[in-house]
Order: sequence, then C-alpha cells, then structure tokens
Amino acid sequence: MTPMPDSLDATWTHAWARLLAGARGRGDPFHQGVLANAAGEGPQARYAVLRAVDPGGGTVAFHTDRRSPKCAQLLADPRVAWCFFGHGEQVRLAGTVQLHLDDAEADAAWAASRRSARQNYAGRNAPGSAVHEPGEGGPPGLGAPPLDDAGLALARAHFAFARITVASLDWLSLSATGHVRARFERAGDGWHSTWLTP
Ligand SMILES: Cc1cc2nc3c(=O)[nH]c(=O)nc-3n(C[C@H](O)[C@H](O)[C@H](O)COP(=O)(O)O)c2cc1C
Repeated sequence: MTPMPDSLDATWTHAWARLLAGARGRGDPFHQGVLANAAGEGPQARYAVLRAVDPGGGTVAFHTDRRSPKCAQLLADPRVAWCFFGHGEQVRLAGTVQLHLDDAEADAAWAASRRSARQNYAGRNAPGSAVHEPGEGGPPGLGAPPLDDAGLALARAHFAFARITVASLDWLSLSATGHVRARFERAGDGWHSTWLTP
C-alpha cells in the first residue's frame, strides 16, 4: 500500500505518481478521467484516456479524433478540467489545451500508439454523426482486418494529440481517519502549494 504523503512536497510527488501510473496501466483507475470544458451550448464532460504525463513540465495529454465536437469547442475555448478518481483519491486538473494535428508532436504520438488504438480514428464519419444503424460510420471493430496503408493514412488524418498545460492540481484523499486535501497552482516557474479544508 502506498503510504499517505505527510507534506505538501510529498503530496505533489504522490499525485503525479498516481497520474504516471494511470498513463502506464490500462487497469489503473487513473487510466481515464472525466474531461470537461465550456462550450457555447453549456458545460461538456466525457471520459478520455490519459496518454502522457510530464510532472516536470506540468503537462498531461490525451488522444482524440480531430473531427469530434470537442475539438471545435477546444479551439474556441481551450480551458479544460480533467478529473480522476481511484485508490480513495481524487485528482482534479485544470489548465489549457493545445491541439497538435499535423506537427512533429502529433507524429510522435501517432508513431508511439498501438495499431489497435489507431483503428479508433479510421471511422468514416465524424464522432457524433447521426446515423441509421448502431455503430454506423464508426471505427472498425476488433474482428476487422488490420488497416492497410491507405486506411492508416486516413486514420492519421483524423488523429489529434492534445496536450494540457496544467494550471492547478487539486488532490483529495478520502479516509475514515480524516480526509485530506491539497492544492497546487502554477506560479511563474514554480508551483504555489497549500493545504485546503477537505
Ligand atoms: C473509458 C472511456 C475512455 C475514452 N477515451 C477517449 C479518449 O481518450 N479520447 C477521445 O476522444 N474519446 C474518448 N472516449 C469517448 C469520449 O468519452 C466521447 O464519447 C467522444 O470523444 C466524443 O466526445 P465529444 O462529443 O465531446 O467530442 C472515451 C470513452 C470512454 C467511456
């Protein structure tokens, strides 16, 4: 069992370790979190998989289909919140997202992604398109043959790498012996940290 951190510095390291473990492990509860943003039609929230974590730079990242409604929303307003829960702990990230479409960062993320993950971007339709049949226009299922070169090129053309520069991290630990909460806010080159009433 991971010991509970007993200082703000240890809490900072602990929270980022949770995120790093989430990005590494499909079975980890921090592998996906609820990503929220503000859109003209109101608040939007959906799960996204945590794909990359850089504690030094204070960034996290997800992959998405550039045709999805969230991309247009995030281009209009890049502010996001991303909320994770597991191991009795909640981590709330807030920051701004930068979408990488056809640059070296997106290429590197695409090159590092599994073939099966690339299939997610091979759907004929934009995510959220209204259709007549269940699943119509979406990515090929697991039983489908692997994408050929043309299919891969099309999938890559739909792929986006989204990096979030974290502005604040709020950590909450739930415990029968007493809840504990800490907040970290980016301040210049460093981070301002404080305990909060849970
Ligand atoms: C567990 C889980 C993980 C998901 N991961 C992602 C993801 O990493 N990227 C993504 O774009 N959509 C992901 N989705 C689908 C989104 O939740 C959402 O349905 C889709 O992206 C369309 O969102 P939008 O209409 O807000 O653009 C995931 C859904 C679930 C249930």
